[in-house]
Amino acid sequence: MKFFVDTADIAEIRELADTGLLDGVTTNPSLIKKAGRDFIETVREIATITDGPISAEVVALDYDGMMREAEVLRKIARNIAIKVPLTRDGLKACKRLTGDGTLVNVTLCFSAAQALIAAKAGASFISPFVGRHDDVGFNGMDLIADIRMIYANYDYSTEILVASVRHPMHIVEAAKIGADVATAPTKVLMQLFNHPLTDLGIAGFLKDWQATGQAIG
Ligand code: G3P
Repeated sequence: MKFFVDTADIAEIRELADTGLLDGVTTNPSLIKKAGRDFIETVREIATITDGPISAEVVALDYDGMMREAEVLRKIARNIAIKVPLTRDGLKACKRLTGDGTLVNVTLCFSAAQALIAAKAGASFISPFVGRHDDVGFNGMDLIADIRMIYANYDYSTEILVASVRHPMHIVEAAKIGADVATAPTKVLMQLFNHPLTDLGIAGFLKDWQATGQAIG
């Protein structure tokens, strides 16, 4: 399973890259607002840190506007994935962009039907939002399972990029279903390291080691 980090914070991206966990980055307009920096500059800097896909989202809602913005964004680096919303114009732009060999991440997916038509439009990634789905009383993981089944039935190569991840179990459940990618905030990716028994084990081993009076090297 690939891990993308869902942030536009450069320091966080650098730290994750050093752990070897980082396979790509996803941004969105809200994350750009949170980072408080120029969008294009930020994406350009992210591209100096990772060779993995970097999602940069268009904000135009019409096809021509999306294509104009995509043109600016895809020039930043060869690993930019243009993020388009799951709308008619978004899928039209998706079809055109992927036809040109550009990576496209179709975002704001909340149904299996939407995921199906995104794959038909040639999306490189489909982003179902599991956390926001859970928030309104649906099970986000049921959606991931449905999409996995549908894509397998027809051998669609569109990668399932699980988004709106709120906790480590979202990642574990998505991995069990066979989702291709999870994008998560830095905090959630860091939580993957944690287990209280690991901490207790380290404390116990250290205590006993100190009692031996030995040193390594
Ligand atoms: O990048 C899109 C998605 O991951 C947003 O997550 O937590 O705002 O629902 P959230």
